[in-house]
Amino acid sequence: MKLLTLIQDKGGRVYQDNVAKFGIPDEYVEKAFSEESMLKATQERGSTFYLALEGSVMLGFAQVNPENEDTVELDRIVVFPEYSRKGIGTSLLREALSDQKRKGVKTVIVNAGKDESHARRFYEKNGFKEIRQVTIDAPWGSKLALVTYELQL
Ligand SMILES: CC(C)(COP(=O)(O)OP(=O)(O)OC[C@H]1O[C@@H](n2cnc3c(N)ncnc32)[C@H](O)[C@@H]1OP(=O)(O)O)[C@@H](O)C(=O)NCCC(=O)NCCS
Repeated sequence: MKLLTLIQDKGGRVYQDNVAKFGIPDEYVEKAFSEESMLKATQERGSTFYLALEGSVMLGFAQVNPENEDTVELDRIVVFPEYSRKGIGTSLLREALSDQKRKGVKTVIVNAGKDESHARRFYEKNGFKEIRQVTIDAPWGSKLALVTYELQL
């Protein structure tokens, strides 16, 4: 899977932005980004993956997980570095949100790292409102400062 390959390139931006910054161990990364875990998310959690494609080339993807009857979590949205800042993330997000709205979803939540200024700007620009800040114990042991955003569809 392209994302897993990119995330293993330790000098690359995807690794630096998504892994190094948070001190996530390699073992956890492989688990979280493997094809197997994504398939499992779809089958067992009812997650939906949205792909940004140009022909057969994947430019990015988004994962949405159901939370309860009318709320979903945008678990992650990634546009691969060579295609970023061209509006692809915004289009992908809009597609995902309009599909979720069609399915009857009313509220979308998303967590961003407190220091992830690019992602926070991206969500704020797309209408998400900050609802709380929390520090959690990450599954890999360290503390993680998060900002939760919400969007009403
Ligand atoms: C966040 C992300 C999905 C945005 O995708 P994108 O295709 O680059 O986004 P767009 O081109 O639609 O940009 C929309 C806005 O987001 C913000 N933004 C996106 N990338 C940015 C960057 N590198 N620096 C600052 N702001 C940025 C800007 O406000 C931008 O609007 P502008 O270009 O008019 O200033 C993409 O940068 C990414 O994959 N980042 C790494 C993974 C990540 O952090 N995901 C979110 C948490 S899971």
